[in-house]
Amino acid sequence: MHIAIIMDGNGRWAAQRHLPRTAGHRAGAKAVDAIVAAAARHGVGTLSLYAFSAANWNRPTAEVSALFTLLRRHLLTQTRRCLEQSIRMNVIGRRDRLSTDLRQLIEHSERATAHCAGMCLRIAVDYSAQHSLVETCRCLQSQSSLERSRFVEQLAAVDHATAPAPDVDLLIRTGGEQRLSDFLLWECAYAELYFVDCPWPDFDAQAFEEALAEYGRRERRFGGIPAAQTAGSSSSHG
Ligand code: FPP
Repeated sequence: MHIAIIMDGNGRWAAQRHLPRTAGHRAGAKAVDAIVAAAARHGVGTLSLYAFSAANWNRPTAEVSALFTLLRRHLLTQTRRCLEQSIRMNVIGRRDRLSTDLRQLIEHSERATAHCAGMCLRIAVDYSAQHSLVETCRCLQSQSSLERSRFVEQLAAVDHATAPAPDVDLLIRTGGEQRLSDFLLWECAYAELYFVDCPWPDFDAQAFEEALAEYGRRERRFGGIPAAQTAGSSSSHG
């Protein structure tokens, strides 16, 4: 199972407590550890977390720099925990706009956990699905014919993904907004969408389990019709 999470609501969580936005991001970074552990415990195959979108560069410099400090800290402290839990780390997104030291930290975490056979933890940094799709097409424009598998391989290469990701089964967005914000647009083609009001710093293992339970109640049809119904009775595209 592939679960993707848009970790939204850090700023509002902080505002409700009269704290600076960066305090919300710090609390958000703490919440990440519990959810990674919960997902691994539940046997999730791939967990993709949206940590920094390409559009987030538009935030004030101090906030951007606080987010990158948290990312550095995460890579420094969580690589060992990932090894203990057999979690493979992969940072997806552009790398050409990241600092050299962050790129080196990413490469170190990925190399150190490359042999781990448990969950794949993908952290999206400077990520934009639209950018990835356009870049993939640009790389493949000289091909006269194109297999879907070749497209997916190139998309993975553009994203610095260690392997093509399976389609997303469940996309969770915290913080109450209901949009995809340019996250994994190709991979979410048939994802079940789960929007929850809870801001990311308050999203704990129990809230994650509620999302899994809701997913379990959904009927995934992939354009087909429910098994119990006879042919010709469905008009949806579900
Ligand atoms: C959106 O909340 C969240 C982000 C832009 C950053 C997410 C980052 C973290 C959870 C911490 C760092 C991540 C890792 C993996 C260590 P927002 O700021 O847009 O909240 P708002 O909508 O309430 O303003």
